[in-house]
Amino acid sequence: MNGKAWVVAILIIDKHHQRKGYGRAAMEQVIQQARTEAPDKSGIVISYRPSNVVAERLYTSLGFKPEGEFEGDVLAWFRFQPPSVYTPARALNLLDVGLTGRLPSRS
Ligand SMILES: CC(C)(COP(=O)(O)OP(=O)(O)OC[C@H]1O[C@@H](n2cnc3c(N)ncnc32)[C@H](O)[C@@H]1OP(=O)(O)O)[C@@H](O)C(=O)NCCC(=O)NCCS
Repeated sequence: MNGKAWVVAILIIDKHHQRKGYGRAAMEQVIQQARTEAPDKSGIVISYRPSNVVAERLYTSLGFKPEGEFEGDVLAWFRFQPPSVYTPARALNLLDVGLTGRLPSRS
């Protein structure tokens, strides 16, 4: 893991309002905001008890992957993707190859 990561210390939804989509909405907001505010960080990490099937389902469905453990808890990572190699300029070259059937000139 290179660089620093965001840590979500804990996520708790009031038990009277669970299963209404608030947990998912909160984590989607966290992911979006974390990406925007510090894109240089490598990702987001969160932990949960191995027996916590609800947390596991929620985080896995959002793209978190269990990648270790800390003091008996599962550590799950949501890793930010590195920038794509397909920059607009590169995509344009590929399109040109597709249209003309030959490599575009470099000039
Ligand atoms: C885990 C927690 C935050 C989920 O919040 P929530 O608002 O109830 O969850 P949502 O309604 O957004 O549901 C998100 C997903 O969680 C899973 N899920 C939620 N409740 C579930 C249940 N009773 N059984 C199985 N899966 C469940 C589902 O995959 C669900 O997605 P789906 O509705 O598309 O099937 C909430 O249950 C909670 O506060 N639990 C106690 C604290 C805790 O365990 N926190 C996590 C460890 S940090």
